[in-house]
Amino acid sequence: MNRKQRRAEGKTGKDAARSSSLIEDTLFRQAITHHQAGRMREAEISYRDVLAANPRHSGALGYLGLLAHQAGHSEAAIDLLHKAIASDRRNPEPHYNLARILSDTGRDDEAIVHNRKVLEIDPAFPGAHNNLAALLLLHGRPADALATAIQGLRKDDAPGLKSTFVMALRQLDPASVKRDPALVQLLVRALREPWCRPRDLSATAGAILLRTPAMTRAVERASRAGTAHLAEMFGPADLAALDADGLLNALLTSSPVASLAVERILTAIRRAALNDIATGVSGGDVWLPLISALGQQGFLNEYVFDVSDPEDAQLETLRREVAGAAAQGAAIAPIKLAILASYLPLHSIEDAEKLAAQSWPDAVAALIRQHITDHRDEADIRGSIERLTAIEDGVSEKVRAQYEENPYPRWSRVFAETQALPVDAYIGMRFPGVPYRPLGNRAPEILIAGCGTGQHAIQRAQQFQSANVLAIDLSLASLSYAIRKTKELGLANLRYAQGDILALGGDRIFDIIDSSGVLHHLKEPLTGWRRLAGLLRPGGLMHIGLYSATARRDINTARDLLARQGREYSVSEVRRLRAEVAARAPGDELHNLANFSDFFSMSECRDLLFHVQEHQFSIPQIGDFLHESGFAFLGFETPARTSYLRRFPGDRAATNLANWAVFEAENPSTFATMYQFWIQKA
Ligand SMILES: C[S@@+](CC[C@H](N)C(=O)[O-])C[C@H]1O[C@@H](n2cnc3c(N)ncnc32)[C@H](O)[C@@H]1O
Repeated sequence: MNRKQRRAEGKTGKDAARSSSLIEDTLFRQAITHHQAGRMREAEISYRDVLAANPRHSGALGYLGLLAHQAGHSEAAIDLLHKAIASDRRNPEPHYNLARILSDTGRDDEAIVHNRKVLEIDPAFPGAHNNLAALLLLHGRPADALATAIQGLRKDDAPGLKSTFVMALRQLDPASVKRDPALVQLLVRALREPWCRPRDLSATAGAILLRTPAMTRAVERASRAGTAHLAEMFGPADLAALDADGLLNALLTSSPVASLAVERILTAIRRAALNDIATGVSGGDVWLPLISALGQQGFLNEYVFDVSDPEDAQLETLRREVAGAAAQGAAIAPIKLAILASYLPLHSIEDAEKLAAQSWPDAVAALIRQHITDHRDEADIRGSIERLTAIEDGVSEKVRAQYEENPYPRWSRVFAETQALPVDAYIGMRFPGVPYRPLGNRAPEILIAGCGTGQHAIQRAQQFQSANVLAIDLSLASLSYAIRKTKELGLANLRYAQGDILALGGDRIFDIIDSSGVLHHLKEPLTGWRRLAGLLRPGGLMHIGLYSATARRDINTARDLLARQGREYSVSEVRRLRAEVAARAPGDELHNLANFSDFFSMSECRDLLFHVQEHQFSIPQIGDFLHESGFAFLGFETPARTSYLRRFPGDRAATNLANWAVFEAENPSTFATMYQFWIQKA
C-alpha cells in the first residue's frame, strides 16, 4: 500500500470509528433516558446494545451494574462495576457507585477504599466526602471521619457532613483534635446555626477554646489570687484574637459552658469587671461584647457560677445604682448593665421595663431582649395556656413546683438542619434491619408527654412529615418558655397544654408518644408508662428516655453523701457544692459529677442532685415491662451502637436486650444521658 492508499485507509478508519462512537452515544443516551424514567427492561436492553458495540464502554457497564443492584443482584452489580472501573481508570463515577453498593451489602471496608479512590480522581465529586465521612464514623474512625467532613465542608454544605462533623467531634478526646482555623470556624458555625443541640458540643468547644493562646494565658492569670482588674486577664491583642476567632462568644451565647477550667476564667473575668466598676477603673467599650456575652451565659446557665462575699457586696451597690437610674430614666453606662446581667437576670430589678424602652448598643440590646422582653412575653403567655387535666397527685404537685422554679432546660437555639421525614423512613434509617411494621403514609398524631421547655417537642414537630403534635407538661413556666420559642420559629403544627400524665385519658389516640426524662420522676413510673401505652394505637410507636442506675452510680454516691450531710436544694447550696466539686482532685467521690453536662446549669444541677422524685432503671426491668405490655423493642439511640455491633456481630438488628445488659455492664457509662429507645405496640 502506498502512502496515498494508506492515508485513504486511515481516513476511512477514523470515519468508521467516529460513526460507531456516534451510534454508541445515541444508544447510551437512550438507555439513560429509559433508566431515569424507571423503564428498567428497556434501559437494560439499550445498555446491552451499547456493550455489543463496545464491550469496554465504562458508562454502560457501570449503569448496568446499578440496574442489577436495583433488581437485587448485588454480586453481578459489583462485578459489572469492577469491569467499568477497569475500562476507564480516570472515571470516578463507577468507584462512587461501587462504594454505595458495597456499603449496602455490608462490605464497608471496601466501600471506604472506593470512596477514597473517587476523591483521588476528583476531589470535588458531589457526595463522596459525605459518604466517606459517614462510613469512617460508622467504623469507629472518628478522627478520619472528622478530617473528611472538614474537607467536604469546604466545598459542600450538606447536612450529612455537618452531622458527621458533630458526631465525630463528640466521640473524640478534644486533646487529640487538631486546633486549626478551619476546625474553629466550623465549630463556631456548629454552635451558632446550630448543627446540633449546642450543649452537645459545649464540653468539646470549651476544651478546644482553652488551647487558644489567649485562654492558655488566662488560665494561669485566673488562678492567681491577686488578679483584680480586667486588664490583667486579657491584653488588647488577646481580646482582639478572641474576637476574631469567635469561639468564646459562640460558646457563651449558645449553651451553658460545660468546662470547669473555662468557668474559672469566666468567673475571674466577671469578678474583675465588677471590681473595676466598684473601684472606678474604666476599661472602656472594648470589653462590652465580652461582658455582654457573659450576661447571656449567666442567663443560660441560670447563674450557677459561684459568687464570693466581697462580690456580693459590690454587686448590691451596682444593682441599686442601676435600679435607681432605671426608675428615673437616667442614663446608665452599657458596661454596668452588662456586668449586672452576668450576675443576675435583668428582669429581676425594679423598673426593668424602662430599660427595655431605651436604646442600647447591639450587644446590650441582645441582653435586654433575652433578660427582659422574652421574660415579659412568657408572663403574657402563661395566662392563656390550656389546662388539659387537673394535677392532683401529691408527687406531681411537688415535681411541678420544682419545674415552676427551674424550667428545664433553658436553651437558646434549635437545630437548623432538621429534615422532615416520613416516620417509617426515620425508623428505617436509625434501626436498619429491625423487624418493624410500617405506619404507612398517615400524618402522625404525636403526644410529647412531659415536654419541659419545648426543645424536644419542637424537634419532633420539625422532624416528622405532616406531624401534628400535642405537648403537655405540669409546669406553666416551662410551657410558657416552650410556647414563646415555638412562636418565634413560626411552627403551626405544635400545640401545648398543661396536664399530668397520670390523669390523661379520653378518646384521643396517638401514632407516636414520646416521653423522655419524665417517667422516672413519677411516683410510680410504670403506672404512668401503662397510661401512656393505653393512649397509643396498635402498631403505634413510643420513644422513651429513662435513667440508668448503672450510668448514674457516681451521682448516687454523691446524692447519698449530700443526704447524709443533710444538704437540701437552694441556689446558694448548689453554688457551694459546685465550688467543692471543682476543688476536688480526680478520683474523689464528688469529682466525677463534673463529667455530667447537667452539672453546668442551675435547673439541670438541681435535677441531677436534688430532685424531689427520682427512680432509676436497668435493662432487664425495661425488658420485663415490654414483655408484660406487648411492646417490641426497636433499638437504643446511642453512639455506642457501632461498638455494640462489633461486640455482638450476630445481633445485626441490635435488639437483644440480654446482650445490651452485658454490654452496659462492660461499659457502664454507655447510657450516661439515659436509656433512649424506641418501641412498637403489638
Ligand atoms: C427533666 S424534664 C425533661 C423535659 C423534656 N422532656 C426534655 O427532655 O427536655 C422533666 C419534665 O417532665 C415533666 N413532668 C414530670 N412529671 C410529669 C407528669 N406526671 N405529667 C406531665 N409532666 C411531667 C416536668 O414538669 C418536667 O418539665
